[in-house]
Order: sequence, then C-alpha cells, then structure tokens
Amino acid sequence: ALDISKLRDLTGYITLDIGYKNTGATKSAITFLDGEQGILKYRGYPIEQLAEKSSFIEVAYLLIYGQLPTTEQLNSFQSEINRHTLVHEDMKKFFDGFPSKSHPMGQLSSLIGALAAFNPESLEPGLSPEIVDLEIHKLIAKMSTIVSWIYKKSLGHPVNYPKNKFDYVTNFMYMTFSHPTEEYEVNPVVISAMNKLLILHADHEQNCSTSTVRIVGSSDANLYASISAGISALWGPLHGGANQAVIEMLEKIKADGGDTDKWINKAKDKNDPFRLMGFGHRVYKNFDPRAKIIKKACDDILENLGVNDEVLDIAKRLEEVALKDPYFVERKLYPNVDFYSGIIYRALGFPTDMFTVLFALGRLPGWIAQWKEMKENKEPIGRPRQIYTGATDRNYTDIQGR
Ligand code: ACO
Repeated sequence: ALDISKLRDLTGYITLDIGYKNTGATKSAITFLDGEQGILKYRGYPIEQLAEKSSFIEVAYLLIYGQLPTTEQLNSFQSEINRHTLVHEDMKKFFDGFPSKSHPMGQLSSLIGALAAFNPESLEPGLSPEIVDLEIHKLIAKMSTIVSWIYKKSLGHPVNYPKNKFDYVTNFMYMTFSHPTEEYEVNPVVISAMNKLLILHADHEQNCSTSTVRIVGSSDANLYASISAGISALWGPLHGGANQAVIEMLEKIKADGGDTDKWINKAKDKNDPFRLMGFGHRVYKNFDPRAKIIKKACDDILENLGVNDEVLDIAKRLEEVALKDPYFVERKLYPNVDFYSGIIYRALGFPTDMFTVLFALGRLPGWIAQWKEMKENKEPIGRPRQIYTGATDRNYTDIQGR
C-alpha cells in the first residue's frame, strides 16, 4: 500500500491547476453539488425543499451542526443569538470614520474583522467547543445588526437597535427599514422572500470566498478574521459582486433602449471585455437550481407586492435569447443565482450597492460551517505550490550601472 506520509519526500512533483478547476482541496460533509445535473443539497436535503419549507435560521443550524434542529434546539439557538444582537457602542466610531458613500462591502469586511478586537476570547489558541459556539452566536447576531447599520449610514439616518421579540430575519428587516417617523409593519410576504433568498445563498461548497475562509482559518486565524477575508473574496464581480453588476447591466440595457440582441452580441465579441453578468458558472453546466427557484420567486414576489419592474422583462428576454444562441449553448452558459436575485432585493427596497452585503449575510452560516469543519478535521495549513517562471541566476548591479 502507498504510504502517504512518504509523499512529502517526493519534492519536485507538482500538479499545476491554475484556478483549481479540477483540484479537490478538502473532504466535506456539508454541501453536495452535481453541476452536470443541477443538484444542490445541504447536509443531504434538496435545496428546493429547504427553500420552500425551512427558515434561514433553521438552515443555519443545519449547516453548522449537521442536523435539522428539534423545536428545543431551534429555540435555544435563536435565543443564544438574541443574547448577542447588540454591537459594542465603540464600534459606532468606525461608522463615523467611513465616508458616507463608501461601498458597503468595504465597510462590512472591516467591521467584521474588527469584531475580533472586541472579542479577545476568540484569539486564544485551542478554543473549547463552548467558546466556538459563543463566537458563532455572536457573529451571526452581530452581522445582521452591522449590515442594517451600514444601510442606515448610507442614508444618514439614525440606526435601529435590535428588537429580540422578532425572529432573525424579521429583526434584520425591522432594523433596516424601520424609520423614526413611521411604524414598521411586518409583511409576511417580504419576510418569506428574504428567508428564501438567504437560504439559497447559505452555502455552495468550495467556491472562491469559502475556500478563502478555509485557507485563512487553516493558519489558525480567528473566526472573525477568516470571515472578513471571505467577505473580501465575495466582493469581486466574478463572484458575489455579480448581483450588483447584473442590475447595473440591466439598467444600462434599459437606458440603451432595451435592445437585448445588441448586448448578447457584445457578450459574444471576444474583443469586447463585456460579459453577460449573472450568466455562467464554474460548476453548473446544465442549470443552476437556485436560479430556477429565484426566477419563480421573483415573479411571485413582484406580483404580490404589486411591483412592475421593466428590468425583469429585459432579464427574461436576455435569458430567452441567450438560451437559444449557439455561443451560450456550446459553452453551457445558463443564468446563475445572481441573475434574478437583485430584482427581488430591489423590489424589497434595497439599493443596488447593498446586494452583495445581503449575499454575505446569507453565506455566513456556510462560511462558519466550513471553518468549523476544517478545524474539527484538523486540516493542515493551506499552502499551494507553484511553477517558477522568473529569471534565474542574476547578480546584483549597483544603481549607477543599470
Ligand atoms: N458572458 C459571455 N461569455 C462568457 C460568460 C458570460 N457571462 N461566462 C463565460 N463565458 C465564456 C468565456 O469567455 C469562455 O469562452 P471561450 O471558451 O471562448 O474562451 C467560456 O465561456 C468559459 O468561461 P470561463 O471564464 O473560462 O469559465 P470560468 O468557469 O472560469 O468562469 C464565471 C465562470 C466566472 C462565473 C464566468 O462564467 C463569468 O464571468 N460569469 C459572469 C459573472 C457572474 O455572473 N458571476 C457569478 C457567478 S455565481 C457566484 O459566484 C455566486
């Protein structure tokens, strides 16, 4: 039998896979994904069932602890989170320091990283399971308060403190949209839409941001630092930032007269850097099951709220044209989770630059579950290799001689 421990002596042998297109970095029991067949399951449960029947906080428990909670476990999880929804008042000084128009994702990654400084117990080596649970509760609780405060800051409005009589998602929507001059009314349609969106974003195995969380955590960096790094990775328009980019693209097409054929041709033109945002996926080569659910939810929610959004029609036309076009068919490019999500966020009242922050709020339980699994598996520090292509054997020359 092969003695794996001896492999470390085989220096010089490296597999080169730029972008890790076919490289497995870990074993994981959290999320199952079959890109050819468009299947996504969290801990074995199909995403369609969870989106239909579950709540975000229940899915968070499932991802992090591996089982659907009993009523008692769910109540205890929610009440532990509620104990920590307040954010240290000194954290407010960070908000004062950010320019009012600074991007919410830049604020979020800084603020989540800063939480480590306010929770020094998280920095101790060899954390006990009790402390790990405490940090998990704190992070989930404070993230929603921080996200709502980032939004309030962008408006120049006073922040709302959490009301723990509400469940997690209702509390978040209350803190975000409650206004001193108006009573906040809980709308079950809105709360259910928000639960669905957050569930659909909650985990997606070893994507760019999740791999970032795992690799940062593998150096024994604390949970807050690891999640802050994941937030930075999510920000990019090729990853979570795509939801903002989709709406900006649809707005541009609308302002340009709504000529979808013209924009499809632009996306196909190899001399044009434009890509059809919200289309294509590294793993899904048939369809993205999340996009199917979101498209249906988008129709339902807009109808329910009585919103008529012209960009939804443009999105549907783009999809229809692209799905028949040989360029997209040959390359197996289909709408991904971000193609329709922004239209729902918009209907719920969120401004475009908040979309990626909402993605981060949804992805948080997945990042936490992956960080925890990596720790429990005692994975070694992540450290990829390289093929060196630079200069060899050069001698230093004094500056006068160059
Ligand atoms: N529009 C036009 N052409 C595209 C698109 C697109 N959206 N996506 C891929 N292609 C083309 C590429 O130009 C390439 O063509 P070629 O074979 O002629 O060179 C081919 O399809 C394969 O694309 P790659 O970029 O090699 O695929 P990769 O797996 O590396 O990238 C990605 C996947 C980043 C998602 C890509 O499809 C993309 O940029 N999509 C738009 C951005 C987006 O929606 N991102 C969100 C992804 S979901 C998420 O992260 C939550």
